[in-house]
Amino acid sequence: MPVTVSRNEQIDLIVAVLCGLGANEEEALIWTEADLRGIHSHGIQRLPVMATRIQKGLLKVNVKPERTWTTGCVLNVDGRDGFGTAICETSLKELTIAARKYGVAVLTVRNAAHIGMVGYYAERRAQEGFVCIAFTTTEVLVHPFGGAEALVGTNPIAVGIPGAPRPFLLDMATSVSAMGRIIAFKHRGEKIPEGWAIDEDGNPTTDPDAALHGSLSPAGGPKGYGLGITIGMLAGLLSGMPTGREVLGTLDTDHRCTVGDLFIVIDPKAFPGGETLAAGVKKYLDELRASRPGKGFKQVMVPGDPEYKLREERLVSGIPHPEEVWHAAQQLRSTICK
Ligand SMILES: NC(=O)c1ccc[n+]([C@@H]2O[C@H](COP(=O)([O-])OP(=O)(O)OC[C@H]3O[C@@H](n4cnc5c(N)ncnc54)[C@H](O)[C@@H]3O)[C@@H](O)[C@H]2O)c1
Repeated sequence: MPVTVSRNEQIDLIVAVLCGLGANEEEALIWTEADLRGIHSHGIQRLPVMATRIQKGLLKVNVKPERTWTTGCVLNVDGRDGFGTAICETSLKELTIAARKYGVAVLTVRNAAHIGMVGYYAERRAQEGFVCIAFTTTEVLVHPFGGAEALVGTNPIAVGIPGAPRPFLLDMATSVSAMGRIIAFKHRGEKIPEGWAIDEDGNPTTDPDAALHGSLSPAGGPKGYGLGITIGMLAGLLSGMPTGREVLGTLDTDHRCTVGDLFIVIDPKAFPGGETLAAGVKKYLDELRASRPGKGFKQVMVPGDPEYKLREERLVSGIPHPEEVWHAAQQLRSTICK
C-alpha cells in the first residue's frame, strides 16, 4: 500500500534526520522537489544511504569548501567531502555575479556529494534570468553502445532557459533511465520497460533485479552513449575528478564520492537575442504544444511539462511513496532523533 504524504511532512522528516546528524536542511528541498515531480530515483529513497554515509564520515557535515577563481569567470570548488547541493547552490549564486559581468561563467565542483536532480540548479538559475547548463557524473552503470558491461555513467545533463510563465527545463540522464528509477520499479514490484537494460550476460531484461546486476542501456543508442562519455570527460576530467570505473560513492556506503560537476551559466543580456529570449521561448514552446499529436498520443508536450504537471497535482494531493521507503525514512528519524 503506498503512503501519501504532503510536501511539508516530507521536508520535516528529512530536515529532522539531517539536522539530527549535524547537517543543514538544504538537501530536504531538492529531494522533495524530485519526489513532487515523480523523479523518485532522486527523492527520499536516498535518505538511508545518505544517513549511513554521514555516520561513516564519507559525507562530512559543516565543512568549508575551498573556492578558487582561476580567471574572472571560472570558479573551481573543492567540496572537501561536504554536501553537493549546498556547495553547488552557494557557488552558483557567486557564479551568476560573474556571468553578469562577463556574459558567461563556468563552475566546476569536485570532492562533493552526489547532487541529485541536476535540473534543480538549472531551473533555479533560469528563474533568475540566466541560461544554465548542468552536468554531473555517476558510477559506471551504462553499457557502451554495442557493449555488454557497464563502463559509462548515467551522466545527466540539464538545460534551463528563461521562459514565461516558467523556464524551459530539459533534465535527463544519458541512459534510457536513471538507475534509481530501476530501484523504484523494484520497490513497487513492477517490471521495467523493454529496452531499458541488459542483464550481466548482456541479454535484454525487464527484471529490475537482473538490471541492477547488469547495466542500463544508453538513451538513443550511440547518441546517448556519445553524450554520456562526453559529459564524463567534461564534468569528470575537467573538474579534476576521474571518469569511468573510478567514479564511486553516489549509491554505495563504502567509498568517498568521486563525481565531478560542471555548470555553465550564460547571461542572455550579453547576446543579441537576450532581451527577447523569454518571449521567443514561450512562442516556440506553445507552438510545439499546440501541434498535431502523433498516433497514440493525446498531446505534444515539451521537456519539463510532464514533471511540472505532476508537481502541481502533488502539491494538492500529496506524494505517494512505497510503504517500505517511507517506513525506512521514519525509522531513521526515530533512531537518530531520540
Ligand atoms: N545526479 C545524478 O547523478 C543523476 C544521474 C542520472 C539522472 N539524474 C536525474 O534523474 C532524473 C531523471 O532522469 P531521466 O533521464 O530518467 O528522466 P526522464 O526520462 O523521465 O525525462 C527526461 C526528459 O524528457 C522529458 N520528457 C519526458 N516525457 C516527455 C514527453 N512526453 N514529451 C516531452 N518531453 C518529455 C522530461 O521532461 C525530461 O526533461 C533527472 O532529474 C536527472 O537529473 C541525476
